[in-house]
Amino acid sequence: MDRFPNPAASTRRGFFATMNLKPVAIIGASGYSGEELVRLLLSHPRVQLTAVTSRQYAGRTLAQVLPKFAHHPRARTLRFSEPKAELVAKEAQVIFLALPHGVAAEFALPLLKLGCQVIDLSADFRLKSAAVYKDFYEREHPAPALLAQAVYGLPEVYRDQIKSASLIACPGCYPTSILLPAIPLLRAGLVRPGGIIADSLSGVSGAGRKAELDYLFVECNESLRPYGLPRHRHLSEIEQELSLAAGTQVTLQFTPHLVPVNRGILTTLYLAPNARFEQPDDLAEFGKKVAACYQAAYPDEPFVRLLEGQALPDTKNVLGTNVLELAWRLDPRTGRLIVMSAQDNLLKGASGQAVQSLNLICGFPETAGLL
Ligand SMILES: NC(=O)c1ccc[n+]([C@@H]2O[C@H](COP(=O)([O-])OP(=O)(O)OC[C@H]3O[C@@H](n4cnc5c(N)ncnc54)[C@H](OP(=O)(O)O)[C@@H]3O)[C@@H](O)[C@H]2O)c1
Repeated sequence: MDRFPNPAASTRRGFFATMNLKPVAIIGASGYSGEELVRLLLSHPRVQLTAVTSRQYAGRTLAQVLPKFAHHPRARTLRFSEPKAELVAKEAQVIFLALPHGVAAEFALPLLKLGCQVIDLSADFRLKSAAVYKDFYEREHPAPALLAQAVYGLPEVYRDQIKSASLIACPGCYPTSILLPAIPLLRAGLVRPGGIIADSLSGVSGAGRKAELDYLFVECNESLRPYGLPRHRHLSEIEQELSLAAGTQVTLQFTPHLVPVNRGILTTLYLAPNARFEQPDDLAEFGKKVAACYQAAYPDEPFVRLLEGQALPDTKNVLGTNVLELAWRLDPRTGRLIVMSAQDNLLKGASGQAVQSLNLICGFPETAGLL
C-alpha cells in the first residue's frame, strides 16, 4: 500500500504540503542523474515524490522502467508523464531538472513563473555571463535574464545564498571535484592563481544514458583515453569560481579522461605554493598552513572527508555516497602542492549535491536523506 492516499492531481501539491511533506518532482527522471534522484527522494523522510517525467517512458510506472525500485510502494503507482511544466507545477513545489543543457532553461522559465523552486542539474545557470555560455556551449543562452538570479549550488561555499534561492544551478561533476579542493587554498592565498593543472578521471555514466558510439561497452572497456582537450565546457564554470575565490583571473589547464568504470571521479591538482622553500623547515611550515586551511574551510562538513595519515582518495570509498574525499601532499623535489579528490559523479557530483540544496532551501537538516 502507498504511504499516503492518492488525492486528485489538481490538489496534490497542497495536499502533501499540509501533511508536512514537501512535494517534489523530477523532470528527466529516466536518465542517470534522474534515477539517482528517484532513489534519494523515494527514501527522503521529509518529501513526497509526486511527479517524474520522461518522453520515452510516459505512461509507465517507475517500477516498470526502473525495476530496482519495484520494492517501493510509491514506485508501483507513480507513472512517468510527458514533460510539461504547467502540469508538473501543479504536482510539486520544488522541481529538479535532470535534463540536457539548453533544454533545462526552457523548463526553468515557466516553472519559476508558476512559483516553483527549481534545482537544475544542467549547465544552463552555472555561468554568470551569457557571453561565456555562448562561447563554451556554442549557442545563445535560452534565458539570460535568469542568470543573475541563479545561485551556484555548491553548499560548502554558498550555503547561505542557497537557503533563500529559487533557482539553484548545481555544479558539474568535474567542477565539484576541483573546486572543493582548490577554493580554500586560493581564498587563503596559499597557492598561486597561475599555472594550476587538473587531471580528472571519470566513469562512463558521466556522459549520461544516451546511446553514442564513444560510450559503447566495447569502445570504453579495457581502454583509457583523454577527451575534450584543450577546452572542456566545464572549464568555464571552474575558472569562474576559482577566479572569484582568488580575486583575480584564474586560467586552468584541465585534462579529463574516460576510464572504464560505471561511476566515480578521481581528480589530481598540481599547484604552485605561494611560498619559498629556502630553509629546511619551510616546507613543513607550509604544510601546517595547508592543513590548517582545510580544517578551517571544512571543520564539520558532513560531505567533505579530509583524509589523514597515509590515506589517499579512492573512488571505492565514496561510491553510493554524497561524500568527497580529499588529501594533499607536498613534493619536496618539485616544490609542488598536489591535492587529490574522489567522489561519485552521480551523487556529490550531481544528484546528492542537488538534494543537499533541497534540504537547505526547505530548512531540513542538510544531511536528510543523504546519510
Ligand atoms: N551524468 C553525470 O555524471 C552528471 C553529473 C553532473 C551533472 N550532470 C548534468 O545533469 C543533466 C542530466 O544528466 P544525465 O547524465 O542524467 O543525462 P541523461 O542520462 O542523458 O538523461 C537525460 C534525461 O532528460 C530527458 N530528456 C532528454 N532530452 C529531453 C527533452 N528535449 N525534453 C524533455 N526531457 C528530455 C531524458 O528522458 P527522455 O528522453 O525519455 O525524455 C532523460 O530522462 C545534464 O545536463 C548533465 O550535464 C550529469
